[in-house]
Parts: sequence; structure tokens; C-alpha cells
Amino acid sequence: MTCIEISRPGGPEVLVPATRPVPRPAPGEVVIAVAAAGINRPDILQRKGVYPPPPGASDLPGLEVAGHVAAVGDGVRTPRPGDPVCALVAGGGYAPYVAVDARHCLPVPSTLDMAAAAALPETTFTVWHNVVERGRLAAGESILIHGGSGGIGTTAIQIAKALGATVFTTASAGKLDSCRALGADHAFDYRTVDFVEAIKAETAGRGVDVVLDMMGGDSIARNLAVLAADGRLVFINFAAGSTATVDFLPIMVKRLTVTGSTLRPQTADAKARIADGLRRVVWPMLEDGRVRPILHATFPLAQAADAHAAMEAGTHFGKLVLTVQ
Ligand SMILES: NC(=O)c1ccc[n+]([C@@H]2O[C@H](COP(=O)([O-])OP(=O)(O)OC[C@H]3O[C@@H](n4cnc5c(N)ncnc54)[C@H](OP(=O)(O)O)[C@@H]3O)[C@@H](O)[C@H]2O)c1
Repeated sequence: MTCIEISRPGGPEVLVPATRPVPRPAPGEVVIAVAAAGINRPDILQRKGVYPPPPGASDLPGLEVAGHVAAVGDGVRTPRPGDPVCALVAGGGYAPYVAVDARHCLPVPSTLDMAAAAALPETTFTVWHNVVERGRLAAGESILIHGGSGGIGTTAIQIAKALGATVFTTASAGKLDSCRALGADHAFDYRTVDFVEAIKAETAGRGVDVVLDMMGGDSIARNLAVLAADGRLVFINFAAGSTATVDFLPIMVKRLTVTGSTLRPQTADAKARIADGLRRVVWPMLEDGRVRPILHATFPLAQAADAHAAMEAGTHFGKLVLTVQ
């Protein structure tokens, strides 16, 4: 099969076509004939050589796909050959075929085509685990979602709203209205607005129950400042740096929880458990339209380099997806 590999660490131009054998399903796995593959910010980090695949994972980029099941391994009862599925993969999505743990597959929602379904797994698994399982966001609570305009952010805004939360978000100036249209109650320009002041003003000084942050850096202390008593701060990246001089007093005084996670290195069992939660709570939201993937653009697989350049240009709102076959 002709896939896209990372020929060496570097810019988008290091993404080049390569010939690899079609994978066979191991026991417990299925092989998916990939119709579309989502692009995520971690793919960029992997291409640059700073986010290596975990041991045993494919070295090819691509963390999520949608397509039809082409083959099933021993012991797999569902999904069945021919079923339309989308799946979280630990790598190898930029290819016509990929092997995946059968438990990491979810049905393609009846409302979506393959390109839209390919945009679901990485963001929904990440948001479910970090906002719901770690952040423990509950109906009637409030959340600050940094980067509301990206793949993760557009998903988090919609899931948080559907769960009955009040949503605050940060994004660049030109994308704030789109964040509001998705359901954000308040959206602030991260370049010009102090989100702590703005949220304190909107909440009579209380702050929010949960913060989802991928920036870190000088946001770390401000995230602690904007949390209400018993609040939860969840990190999914430190794009602006993971070190800071921070006063820990608010953690004790306000009884805060500081946590975080990365999805890719988690065990297969842990990912299967996240998939179960998604199937139970988020897939019905997709079926009835309360949540939908926001597709900014699609690119043919052969133009993966252009898709990476587009993500790095940062003008997208929502997701970029590769069409494969
Ligand atoms: N831990 C995990 O398991 C996990 C999994 C997936 C992704 N991630 C991380 O989650 C982040 C988002 O991924 P993605 O695929 O959604 O990428 P993306 O689509 O490129 O989104 C990036 C977002 O960051 C926003 N942003 C940039 N500078 C910001 C700032 N100073 N303050 C607040 N927001 C800012 C961008 O806003 P504008 O475009 O409006 O400027 C955009 O909304 C990445 O850092 C990625 O590494 C973590």
C-alpha cells in the first residue's frame, strides 16, 4: 500500500509517499480500509521529532481514521467485516489500511460521512477523558476551554454544553463568533483580554469549576486564579512551556485538583474504557445533532504536507482531514 511516512524530523516537506505491507489483524484487532484520516496537532509534533510513537505503535503518522472493516482477527465479535467504523489508532492513520484494537472502534454515526467521522476519535477520546473523567465536569457547572477554535476546543465546547455546563473559551479574535455559534456562552481573545478578570467579572468573582488548558506557560498561575473552590485544572499540553514559578497557595485554600494526561501512551484497556463512555454518552449526542465534528477542510492523502502547512498556519476553525480511498 502507498502511505505517507515521516522521512526525517522536519517541516511539512518530510511527509513523503512510501510503500508498506498491508497490515494483518492480530488477535483482538481489526484492519480498517481507511476512507479518511484526521489530522491533529500531535501529528505536527511527531513530524518534528518531539512526540515519538509509543513502543509497539506504527511509526506512520495518523491517530484517527474512519472506513470499513476489511478483516477481523481471532476473538473479535464486533465490529464485523464491512461495518463502517471510526477508530482511535496509536499511529498509522495516514495509510489505506490500518490495524487497530477492535475495542477502539466506534460506529460511524448515521448523520455523518466518512470525512466527518474521521474527525471524531482523537478529539472525543481526549475531551471525554480530560473534561469528564479527570475534570469531572457536571451539569450546572462551568468550564474554561482554552483554544476553543481548534479540533479539541470545538469538540470540548459542544460536549460541555450538551452536558449542561456554562462554557467560557479563549481563541484568536477572528474566531470568537464561531466559538459562540458552537455554543460557548462567553469567548475571549487570548491576545487582548485577561481571562481571569473577564471571567471573574461574569461570575461575580466566583470563577469556573473546570479549566481545560493546552498552553501552560504564564497561563498556569492564571488558571489557578480563575478556578472556583473545589475546581479542577486539566492540562493536555504545555504549548507555551511546562515550567513556571507558581504560588501553590490557591491549591490548598480553594481545595483545587491539578491533573492532566496524554492519550496516546495509555493502555489498550484504558482506551477501551474511554470508548465505552463515549458510546454511552457522546455517540447519542452525535446521533441527535447536539454535537457535530467541525470540518474546516479536507486534503487528499498525497497532499498531507499541505494539510500540515495549513494546520501550522493556524487559520483553521475545527478539524483538517485527509481523504484516503
Ligand atoms: N493530551 C492529549 O491527549 C492531547 C490529545 C490531542 C491534542 N492535544 C493537544 O491539544 C491542543 C489542541 O490540539 P488540536 O489538534 O485541537 O490543535 P489545533 O486545532 O491546532 O488547535 C490549537 C488551538 O490552540 C489555540 N491557541 C493558540 N495559542 C493560544 C493561546 N495563547 N491561548 C489559548 N489558545 C491558543 C488556537 O487558537 P487560534 O487558532 O484561534 O489562534 C487553537 O484553537 C494541542 O496543544 C495538542 O497538542 C493533547
